[in-house]
Amino acid sequence: MKRMSAALVPPITLDKHSRCPIYRQLYDWFRSAIAEGRMRPGQRVPSTRSMASDLQISRVSVFNAYEQLQSEGYLETFSGSGTCVARTIPDDTSGFVPVRGRKGSEGVITDSGLRRLSARAEALLNAPSEPWLHNLGPFRVSLPALDQFPIDVWSKLVARHSRGLSRSVMAYGDVMGHLPFREAVAEHLSMFRGVRCDSSQILVTTGSQQALQISAHVLLNPKDQVLTEEPGYPGAHLAFTAAGAELIPTAVDSEGLVVPEINRRGRHARVAYVTPSHQYPLGMTMSAARRMSLLQWAVRSDAWIIEDDYDSEYRFGSRPIASLQGLDLHGRVIYIGTFSKVLFPSLRLGYMVIPKDLLPPFRAARDAADIFSSTFYQVVLTDFIGEGHFARHIRRMRMLYMDRRKELVSAIRSQMGEILEVIGAEAGMHLVALLPPGVSDLSVSKEAAKIGISAMPLSSCYLKAPKRGGLILGYGGVGRSQIHDGIRKLRTSVRTRAGV
Ligand SMILES: Cc1ncc(COP(=O)(O)O)c(C=O)c1O
Repeated sequence: MKRMSAALVPPITLDKHSRCPIYRQLYDWFRSAIAEGRMRPGQRVPSTRSMASDLQISRVSVFNAYEQLQSEGYLETFSGSGTCVARTIPDDTSGFVPVRGRKGSEGVITDSGLRRLSARAEALLNAPSEPWLHNLGPFRVSLPALDQFPIDVWSKLVARHSRGLSRSVMAYGDVMGHLPFREAVAEHLSMFRGVRCDSSQILVTTGSQQALQISAHVLLNPKDQVLTEEPGYPGAHLAFTAAGAELIPTAVDSEGLVVPEINRRGRHARVAYVTPSHQYPLGMTMSAARRMSLLQWAVRSDAWIIEDDYDSEYRFGSRPIASLQGLDLHGRVIYIGTFSKVLFPSLRLGYMVIPKDLLPPFRAARDAADIFSSTFYQVVLTDFIGEGHFARHIRRMRMLYMDRRKELVSAIRSQMGEILEVIGAEAGMHLVALLPPGVSDLSVSKEAAKIGISAMPLSSCYLKAPKRGGLILGYGGVGRSQIHDGIRKLRTSVRTRAGV
């Protein structure tokens, strides 16, 4: 490659109308030229005077660009010999991917070619796209009644704590979480979920998803086996896949995970991930006998159980079911909960209850992840719980969701009773509507997404091909009229795809 003479100013095109300052455009040009090997180590650069006069720009701009390049180590100055490209830049830059500046932007990679990713990232990329999650329209799963959230109370608490923001709330917080918040969570769990714990066992997380990820880091090596419910929660599939684990889909029936399956398929598994209070997505409750069998399996196999208690606050018709963790006498259960459904998902607050002897590795893994969750919102939520707003909100939402569920079931029965079969409508914020055999739920969901209906296909929760397709319909975030209107629209999509 021809070396540039120090006396010659290279043909640099500058856009004087750009929002990107001239000095920055100059800087970008030199940086790319050096990175791409068009300018070599030791090569002299034109003087500030000749650059300014040839390019008809101010000398200050040139000076600023050179100074920036120098402070970042691209250029160096020697007394007597002027300014050169730094000699520490490797001479062989061939094959370096060029980065070109865009008007006022950071620059884009123009010729990426094939890039080597980790096997874990490749596995995550295999996850299909989910058009039904791209809108907040009727039947979006996991969406609570956001318009019913007591925003006035919340805003007052936020304002109160913002005014008196203490140093301890603003500084780095405890890796395990804000202690008064953990105390409030521990009390709530012991009282309402039958969880055996004290505040030292509570680890505050950025939602359940992070709790799953941390559990996977602590408990699994790549290629370790994890028993998952089939069908099961796709978020859990992702977290375990990201950890390089092998997922073993395990059948569920009306009592939860099937015991012979646990014993047959779980011989070498390190972890079983379960949703015993309200199986995701089908909605059954794991029976007491199955809970005992699962606990025995964990003790016998020196394995762990991850209990995801994601929406147990909402049970209709029957009393709340106590947690599996509460039955565990051997410290085999890692319990996970979230505020995403009881409050709102963007709060990104969840928690785990960890057996005491596992606290050090979980603490270390949390530290390595993102250190700790926002102390401010933990402080606000501590008061929200302590002043009774949390319990009041749950009670109100339980009534509301019970009505919405009834409304949805009746809308389905009256408008699509001959097509859809409803299951799992006794708890939570969603139900499953099975499609006639042979109808692809994926194509119905895609069709529905085009008209703003969010109907999650049941097959997206399966690791193996399901026998029958269905739609997972959330009712938490849809009002009465939206339910009827949504079902009318959904009927069109189902009929288009099912030919009925
Ligand atoms: C089974 C299950 N677990 C956990 C969650 C909540 O996840 P997060 O707390 O990360 O928002 C959901 C929400 O959709 C869920 O369905």
